[in-house]
Formats: sequence, C-alpha cells, structure tokens
Amino acid sequence: VHWEVEESPPPKSNFGQSLVIALPASKTTTLSIKYKTTEKSTALQWLTKEQTQGKQYPLCFTQSQAICGRSLLPCQDTPSVKAPFTISVTVPEPLTAVASGEPSGDPESSGNFRTFRYEQKVPVMSYLIAIVVAHLESCQIGPRSKCYAEPGVIHAAQKEFQDIVEDFILKAQEVVGGAKYEWGSYNVAVMPSSFAYGGMENPNCTFMSASLIPGDRSLTPTLAHEIVHSWIGNLVTNAFWKDFWLNEGFTRYIERRVLGKIFGPAFRGLLLLVGYNDLIKAVDMLNQQGTPGLTRLEPEIDEIDPDDAFSRVPYEKGSLFLFYLEQIVGGEQQMTDWLGAYVAAFRERSIETEDCKQHFLKFFKGVKRIKEIDWEHWLHGEGLPDFDLSSYVDRSLVDESRALADSWLNTSTSDVETGHMKAQQWMLFLDHLINAVVAGTSISHDTLASMESKYKLSLTKNVEVSFRWCLLGCKCKWPVCLDWTEKFLANHGRGVYVKPLYMALKAFDAERAISVFQQNRNFYMTVVTRQIAACLGLG
Ligand code: BES
Ligand code: ZN
Repeated sequence: VHWEVEESPPPKSNFGQSLVIALPASKTTTLSIKYKTTEKSTALQWLTKEQTQGKQYPLCFTQSQAICGRSLLPCQDTPSVKAPFTISVTVPEPLTAVASGEPSGDPESSGNFRTFRYEQKVPVMSYLIAIVVAHLESCQIGPRSKCYAEPGVIHAAQKEFQDIVEDFILKAQEVVGGAKYEWGSYNVAVMPSSFAYGGMENPNCTFMSASLIPGDRSLTPTLAHEIVHSWIGNLVTNAFWKDFWLNEGFTRYIERRVLGKIFGPAFRGLLLLVGYNDLIKAVDMLNQQGTPGLTRLEPEIDEIDPDDAFSRVPYEKGSLFLFYLEQIVGGEQQMTDWLGAYVAAFRERSIETEDCKQHFLKFFKGVKRIKEIDWEHWLHGEGLPDFDLSSYVDRSLVDESRALADSWLNTSTSDVETGHMKAQQWMLFLDHLINAVVAGTSISHDTLASMESKYKLSLTKNVEVSFRWCLLGCKCKWPVCLDWTEKFLANHGRGVYVKPLYMALKAFDAERAISVFQQNRNFYMTVVTRQIAACLGLG
C-alpha cells in the first residue's frame, strides 16, 4: 500500500504528524506497521532503579490520555474511535509486564526474557492503551481483583484496597441503574509517586499513584472514581476533548453518590463542598492565567493540547451541574434511572455534549421543572455557575470544618477537640483558610506556628492535607514551610499538586522555585515538566 508521513505541522502545535495510508478497496485489510519510539515519547516514563521504591530494578510505564498514545504507537488517537486490541510485551527476567486487558495465557519464557500477552475484547479508545513494566508482585484484593505493586509496597496496597474495591464496584453498579460491569476483572497497579495523576482508569488495570496509600484508606475515593470510569468514560466516552466533562463530571458525580451510599449523606455533603472549593481554586487559577475560556464546561479547545486545558473545571463544574439536575428531576433515584438508560443507549459509543443533553431532555420530558434549566449558562458560561450548592447538602461534617477555620481566622486559636476529624474535613478546613488568604485576609506566622504545634499537619501521611498545608504556608510566605514544600515537590509528581505549589512558591521565592524545579525536573512526567517550565517562565 501507499503511505506517507505528512509534513510537520506548524511548530506551535505538538499534535504530531499524520501517517496517511491509502487503503485498498477490499472490505478488510491487515496492516503491519514497523516503527520505533524514541526516548522523547511523551507517553513513557522511564525510571532508573535508584528512582524506584525497591532500588533494584528499573521501571517503565505509559500514560496515553489525553493525546500521548500517538507517541507510543501509530493509532487513530482520538476518543471518537474505538477498537479491541491485543498487546504482547517482552521483558527481561525478573520483570513483569502488566497491560490494560485480560491476561491471555501464562507468560512465555525464552532465555532471560518473558513475553506477557494481554487482550482487550471490549472496543476502546487509544487513550486506554497502557503498559507498566517493573519488578512487581501481585495479590488478591477482591473476588475479581488483583493488585500489582513493587514488593516493598504490595502489603500496604493490599491493606488499603482489600474488599473495599468490590464494595465500590457493586455500589457503582447500583448507582448507574444496574448496568452490568462489562470488563471481567478489575485490577489495580500501583505506580511510582512521580505519576502525573492520582489514578488512571486503564481497563482491567487501573493505575494508582503510590502517593494515595496513606495507610488509613482516607484517599480511597480515588479508587471509587476510577471504578466508576468502567461505565462512564470507558464505555460511554467523550467524542472530543471539549466534551471531557461527560467523562470526568459524570464520574465525579457518581463517585460521590457511591461514597454517600457507603458512608452516609453527611460524607457526600462533605465531598461536594470539597469539590466546590476545588472549583473555586480552578476558576481563580484559570482567570489568573488569562484563560477564562477554559472555565466553560464545553470549552473551545481545537487548537490546544487537551493536557494543557486540563483543570478541575470539567470535574467539578460538571458534577455540580449533575447535582443541580438531580434537584430539578426530583432526586437520586430519578438520576439513577436516567443513568441506566444513558449507559444502555450509549455504551461502546463516543458522544458529544449535545447528545447527552438531548437524551436527558427526552428522558425527562414529563418533568415540568426541566424548563428551568439554563443550558447555555451551564455549558458555555464562564466562571462559577449561578447555583448555591450549600443549601441542598447535609452540612453536619462541613460545618465543623468551617467553624474551626473561622475560629482560627477570628481568634488565632481554637480549643475544639479535633481527634475525630476526617481527612476531608482537614482538607476543607485548609481550603477555607487558603480561600481567605487569596481573598486578602492575612494569617500571621505565629498563628500558623501554633496550628502546626497543635495539629502537627506537617507530619500527616495524607497528601491532600499536606499539599494544602504547604500551599497555605507558601501563600502566607511562611519560611518554615519551605523545607516541607521542597520535600513534597521532590516526592510527588501529581500535576494537580505540583503546579499550584510551584506557582505559589514562585510568588514567595522565585529563585528557590526555579532551583527546586531544576533539581526535580527529571522526576516528573513530560506533561508535568512542560507545564511547570511554562509557569516558571523557563520556556
Ligand atoms: N482519567 C483521569 C486522569 C487523566 C485525565 C489523565 C486527563 C490524563 C488526562 C482519571 O480518571 C482522574 O480523573 N484522575 C483524578 C482522580 C481524582 C479526580 C479522584 C486525578 O488523578 O486527579
Ligand atoms: Zn477521572
């Protein structure tokens, strides 16, 4: 067949070059493409053995979402195309390769090498192609679930995820109206803490950052989130990255429904408020960055790399919109009925925002209140939507955090007993303080020091709490927090933490921000390095 690689597009874009193949007229054709990746492949992260937990063997993993799949293999790298696939990976002993499908047969040995084969029977998008190669052990964490991790982490991972994984799957299935789990197994592979995300919903093999194993299960909401992608995202998919909220907003909404079912309505209320604060922070950041267009639910991003458009907006504005719709249509059960019909109608397809809207309107055409919905405002309006969440949620856990924050803001101290407080309450407490500082209130260094001596926040094992504590310290220009922040930035590579932290550190001590970044730039994944370099003006 005739093929050519199209001329390089203009340098402003990093969308790559097209491989154009003229297909023969016959119905089916088999095509083999021989190609090599380079060390610059953005989907791959290579860790030296010193960079791993065990320090004995190197490690390598991929991250294809959003548009890095094309750096891994020639493919139609768009979420609107789906196909089944098989993967075979040959690696030296004693390394193991795990990929985003079901294992097909035992690994085959040849000399010092083993070949692992995986098959994904459900048609999926290129962004779900994933491989991790490392010195891995595995253990059972549920009836259909295994966990893969480095030997030094496997025990902690098992304790963190055991049993709760099956709970989450069953509850998620209930919330999506009984739509069945279509993937066979549900496994988790623990990634190094340099992973750019908390979790990634690779089918049969969710990738989970090692940063999310604090030992008390306080970060397992992320596991619930990735599980929910088994229906939303992996079965019903955003057709274009502008429709990303159909993946992430829906998933967040359902994830919190699942957690509410297990831990009660007050916990759901708490998560909703934490999410609302994330939305406030995201809108602030995007406005500051001069990209208010990215605060729209359905933004115009044809010319932008979706990874650069990435923020909490599609997650939090999207899930807030669904929460609002829940109020309109009459409650959780109505939404569940709709979600069941939605998954049945669109499974194995990729859809746009408009498809979702039409389906919703048709399903609820008998409900009077749906005329109230201002679709234009929600889908294309900028900034925070005109909807006050707080009067619709169970506020019992939320109010405790608020009262504690107010006490510190007004009197610089508090005598309230805090031993029972949940991690998410600490997150919300710190968010209140961060928002107050952003809005112009100042918190003295003495106050921060007495908070630290009372609560020992610098010692927390929960990354979400320690991220917020570092962020608050930097925003208050508190020198004591510099060492913690530096350590945090050297040990965690998740974009949603490191990007705001570098921005805050830069405003505090620009030289230090640059030197810390130079020390750690090889630790982060390419997408993250690129964005921080841009934030720090390093081009
Ligand atoms: N699919 C996303 C991660 C992702 C998004 C990777 C866009 C690349 C491009 C994953 O499901 C996710 O949302 N992760 C969140 C989890 C959180 C919302 C609980 C994360 O890592 O922050
Ligand atoms: Zn997600």
